Amino acid sequence: MKVLVTGGLGFIGSHTVVELQKEGYQVVIIDNLSNSSIEVLDGIVAITGKKPIFEQLDLRDKTKVQGFFKQHQDIKGVIHFAASKAVGESVKKPLLYYENNINTLVYVLQELEKLEIANFIFSSSCTVYGQAEKMPITESAPVQKAESPYGNTKQIGEEIIQDTCKINPKVQAIALRYFNPIGAHQSVKIGELPIGVPQNLIPYITQTAGGIREQLSVFGDDYPTPDGTCIRDYIHVVDVAIAHVIALQRLLATKNEINFEVFNLGTGTGSSVLEVIESFERVSGEKLNYKIVARREGDVISAFADTQKANKYLGWKTELTLDDAMLSAWKWQQSLNKD
Ligand code: UD1
Repeated sequence: MKVLVTGGLGFIGSHTVVELQKEGYQVVIIDNLSNSSIEVLDGIVAITGKKPIFEQLDLRDKTKVQGFFKQHQDIKGVIHFAASKAVGESVKKPLLYYENNINTLVYVLQELEKLEIANFIFSSSCTVYGQAEKMPITESAPVQKAESPYGNTKQIGEEIIQDTCKINPKVQAIALRYFNPIGAHQSVKIGELPIGVPQNLIPYITQTAGGIREQLSVFGDDYPTPDGTCIRDYIHVVDVAIAHVIALQRLLATKNEINFEVFNLGTGTGSSVLEVIESFERVSGEKLNYKIVARREGDVISAFADTQKANKYLGWKTELTLDDAMLSAWKWQQSLNKD
C-alpha cells in the first residue's frame, strides 16, 4: 500500500518513514531538502533495508505537485510534514512561512480530492493552545491567537483541512498536535539535524556537551513552577512516528468517528528545563555547562498533554521515557561529532 510522506527526510518525517516501512507500507517521499539532507535516505535504508521512492520536489510548485499526483494515483494516504518550523524566522519572514506552510497544504489537498481514497495526516502543534488555562491540556482546550506566523500556519492549516472535510466527505483527516518531540532513532542512523545555532532545548544541550557550543542558557528561573523553569512535555520522536502510522491505519480502516479528528501527541508528563538537564547528566554521565539567563520572549510557562483521547481512540501511548530520549539524542550527537 502506497503512502506519501512529504518532508520525509526531516526529523519527524524520517522516523515516520522508518515505522511505515517496518509495517510494510511502500513509502514515497517528497522533500525539497531545504532543511534536510539527502544522506537521511541512507540512514532510512540502513535501518529498514528498504529504499523508499524519493522525489526532490518543492510543493510550492503547483504544476509539479499536479504532475506528481498524476503519476502516483495509487496513493492511499498522505502524511504531510513538509513545512518550515522556526518560530523566530517566521516572525522575520511571515510571507515565506505562509507560502511554505499554507500554499503547499492547499496544493496537496487539491490533488488529494481527486484521488479515489483521500486519507490525510497533518502535523500540527501544541502551539495552537498558547498558554492554556488548565493542565494537562485536552484537545477541547480553546485554540488561542497565535504568537507567531509559524503558529498561525498550524491554526490556519487545521482550519483549511476542517473546511475541506466539511464539504468533501471523501477526505478523511487527522491533525496530530505535537508537544515537544525530541531524541533520535535507537540505531543512531537518523536524528535531528538543526541547521546553524539550535533554537530548541535538546539539540542545544547535546551540542554544548559535545563541545560545539560554549554554554547553555536556561531562559528564566523565576516562572511560577516548582523549580522556576518552564515546563514542557518532551516526547520521544519514535513514539511520535508510531502514532502517525496508527493514525493512518485508523483512517485506512475507516475507524475514525468524524472525517476531521484532532489528537494530542504527548507523554502526559511535564518536565522542567532543569529536570531535562538532570536527565541528560544522568544518562550521559556528562556535566553540562549552563547558566540561568533572562526569560525568552514568547515562551509559555507550562504545557503538557492530556493523552486520554489518543490513548482511547488511537490505542496508542508513549513507550519511551525522557531518559531514553536524552540518551538517544546524546548518542546521535556523538555520532555526528565523529563525522
Ligand atoms: C518551540 C516553539 C514551538 C515549536 C517547538 C518545536 C517557541 C516559543 N516555541 O517550542 O512553537 O512548535 O519549538 O520546534 O519558540 N530553552 C532554554 N534554553 C535554550 C532553548 C530552550 O532554556 O537554549 C527552554 C525554553 O525556554 C523552553 C524549553 O527550553 O522552556 C523548550 O524550548 P524549545 O525546545 O525551544 O521548545 P518550545 O519553546 O516548547
